[in-house]
Amino acid sequence: MIDIHCHLLPFTDDGPKSWEETYAMCEAAYADGIRHIVPTPHCDRRYRFERKSGEEKIQHLRERYPDLKFSLGCEFTLSYDNLDRAVQNPKGFTLGSTNYILVEPSEILRPNQNEEGLHELRGLGLIPVLAHPERNTFLRNQVELLEEWTEAGCLSAITGNSLTGFWGQEIRQRAEMMLKRGLVHCIVSDGHDPVRRPLVLSAGVAAAAKIVGEEAARALAVDNPGRIVDGLPL
Ligand SMILES: [Fe+2]
Repeated sequence: MIDIHCHLLPFTDDGPKSWEETYAMCEAAYADGIRHIVPTPHCDRRYRFERKSGEEKIQHLRERYPDLKFSLGCEFTLSYDNLDRAVQNPKGFTLGSTNYILVEPSEILRPNQNEEGLHELRGLGLIPVLAHPERNTFLRNQVELLEEWTEAGCLSAITGNSLTGFWGQEIRQRAEMMLKRGLVHCIVSDGHDPVRRPLVLSAGVAAAAKIVGEEAARALAVDNPGRIVDGLPL
């Protein structure tokens, strides 16, 4: 399996607090069946994403875990500041060297401002992958908006633990409804630490399989994220 959204790099954002925690997360991911990890540190008002220092940390992980593949991305929160930075350097924020970018819609901006931001990113040749739409206040309550954005070319990555009930029953139901409507392209861990929000996918995939079947669930954790990290169209 391939995880395209997690917080794995120490001393970077609200992810692991030490290299030991990072190592524990990598080892749990491997044991869970994950073979390619894309750490996506927050890129927002609180945490400024620095690609170079992220790459240095990833290089260390590549040497320590030769059986795991790593590429670097970020979780790009929609804001005017971030959009300015993306205009200056569109490739600075992508998942690896692809044109895919993991985007967290902003709850501070209005839905139409988010929509304009997504349009601007697409105009730069980027393909937005929406981070956990099932947990976003306005998207989970206006699924028709997510349908419009999907039709316009956005993809969606829900978190596995939304399907297992970690975030409560309402979010679980939203995630299930999005799955049934074909609005979900990937399941991701959004892992932050070794214990509370670990870097695992299998439980979420098993929950998805009960709703959409084994083959479709596998596509969400293997085939689709595999095409994304290879920069291929879905
Ligand atoms: Fe995240």
